[in-house]
Amino acid sequence: MDAIKSFEDIFQQRIDDEQKIEARDWMPDAYRKSLIRQISQHAHSEIVGMLPEGNWISRAPSLKRKLALLAKIQDEAGHGLYLYSATETLNISREELIEQLHSGKAKYSSIFNYPTLTWADIGAIGWLVDGAAIMNQVALCRTSYGPYARAMVRICKEESFHQRQGYDILLTMCRGSKEQKDMVQDAVNRWWWPSLMMFGPNDDASPNSTQSLKWKIKRLSNDELRQRFVDMTVPQAEILGIKLPDPLLSYNVERGHYDFGPIDWDEFYQVLAGNGPCNKERMVARIKAHKEGAWVREAAMAYAEKQKQKRVKTVA
Ligand SMILES: [Fe+2]
Ligand SMILES: [Fe+2]
Repeated sequence: MDAIKSFEDIFQQRIDDEQKIEARDWMPDAYRKSLIRQISQHAHSEIVGMLPEGNWISRAPSLKRKLALLAKIQDEAGHGLYLYSATETLNISREELIEQLHSGKAKYSSIFNYPTLTWADIGAIGWLVDGAAIMNQVALCRTSYGPYARAMVRICKEESFHQRQGYDILLTMCRGSKEQKDMVQDAVNRWWWPSLMMFGPNDDASPNSTQSLKWKIKRLSNDELRQRFVDMTVPQAEILGIKLPDPLLSYNVERGHYDFGPIDWDEFYQVLAGNGPCNKERMVARIKAHKEGAWVREAAMAYAEKQKQKRVKTVA
């Protein structure tokens, strides 16, 4: 007699068959928890990521640059909203998610705890930070959880515009004066290593990775994604005519990839633990924005209630 298949076996079989898991489907508790952690962390990163760039809206060097930057930052707000909605399908409320961010229980990408010192930083963020995000997110379009995968498809389309607007800023500056080019070099020196850290710890130090890959929450490992990012970015740096700040960076013919130097994981864990240059500032800004936005939420709820009453009346 055939052994009766457990829920877990059937679930894993569906994943292996590349079927999408939907909100109403049975799923292991750990799969649900893992997704809530990953998608909400992603949502928080989109929202907190608006802060370092928002710092430059009023100082953008031209009307055209200001419009592009405004559009990009608004896109990021939209990404946050799609992703909060995707997380809510897993039976957790928006309030709870926001509370986890504000209390420090939930994380967001450490990269947003670095300051934006010059206009070139806005270019470097678009090129490197959005570039790294795309690498990660293109792979996530095939993630096993349906609502997350669908949100990713839309997000990826917008991310490529973000990367191009950043690269265009840098290209213009690199073709300008020596001071402008120096400014680009300085920004890239500061953003390069944190961008590589965005992919997370090396595979042998990433405890959740194996299970996430088995469940196809993640489709590629941290190190695979990081390597792809380096391979894509080095030729783009050559076009800009700037140097990436890594003396060990060189093309390895045998591997068919660029080798690069060791990452300073101490710095990564320090920033993750809350000791980065802007961690406190970011949380203060988020909590203040949330408090000041209370009247908007209340007004939206009052309006929704009014509409509901109207519908009840019409039906009656
Ligand atoms: Fe985004
Ligand atoms: Fe973006």
